[in-house]
Amino acid sequence: LPQVVRTVSELRATIAAYRRQGKTIGLVPTMGNLHEGHVSLTRIAHNHADIVCTTIFVNPTQFGPGEDLDAYPRTFEEDRAKLRDAGVELIFAPNVEEMYRPDASTTVSVGGLTTALCGSDRPTHFSGVATIVTKLLMQSLPDVAVFGEKDFQQLQVIRRLVRDLDIPVTILGGAICREENGLAMSSRNRYLTAEQRETAAILSKTLGDIAKHALTGAPLAPMLREGQEKLLEAGFDKVDYLEIRHEEDLSPCKELDKARPARLFAAAHLGRARLIDNCPVVNP
Ligand code: PAJ
Repeated sequence: LPQVVRTVSELRATIAAYRRQGKTIGLVPTMGNLHEGHVSLTRIAHNHADIVCTTIFVNPTQFGPGEDLDAYPRTFEEDRAKLRDAGVELIFAPNVEEMYRPDASTTVSVGGLTTALCGSDRPTHFSGVATIVTKLLMQSLPDVAVFGEKDFQQLQVIRRLVRDLDIPVTILGGAICREENGLAMSSRNRYLTAEQRETAAILSKTLGDIAKHALTGAPLAPMLREGQEKLLEAGFDKVDYLEIRHEEDLSPCKELDKARPARLFAAAHLGRARLIDNCPVVNP
């Protein structure tokens, strides 16, 4: 089984020992309840580094009031077995007290990128993510860190903070892993009933259809409105957004431009779950 460390000082000592052996380090931050999407990121990390450290920490500061912090699935032993099968060497699984002192008063907030999309429905979410990811990067000082395109806005926020704060790490993105029916894998999919999982698959199907249609040059706004209606008819309770934005800065994309890669983003509620998904519109 992979070695488990619970404190920052143990993490630093363990990584320092690997460094003395000349090993490079890849970091894969997670909140646990691991699935194939997380495991795929550890494979990318192993392709770019000798030693892979997966962090498992359900970060309270990125959950808003009334969100699912308490309900969030915690499955440490299963996670550890999956990471063993993936060949991960090290797990950092601190408790909340280890990560946040009672009088902690410093946060990292990334402007611009965080106001759109998920930022407008979850106003404190991205500063919680930016703060914990900055801490994890400073604690482990990896050569590379890998994040999924499933949370594309999060990936861009992390790229931006690493650039702006001069953190010496290479950020890599991993493609979205999907269920057979197209549903993007997520720890929150366990909030869905079997029937809702079928409905949920319509989200990725709709995104794919719109992305294909957009490439024909048809006007985007009506296409997005129709897509939204289709999701509501299919049984989604609420669509938070369905928008095309530029990948680089997440600014709104009114018209496709080959020089500026664009992506289609969606968030929609189904039963107890809020599902997000995205797909590229202009092929790079
Ligand atoms: P979590 O939701 O556990 O996701 C951990 C990593 O796995 C993230 O980089 C996420 O984008 C990626 N991921 C999730 N589902 C995926 C899928 N279906 N395909 C590919 N990658 C997927 O994201 C977080 O945790 C947290 O915000 C964190 C970055 C750990 C900070 O607390």
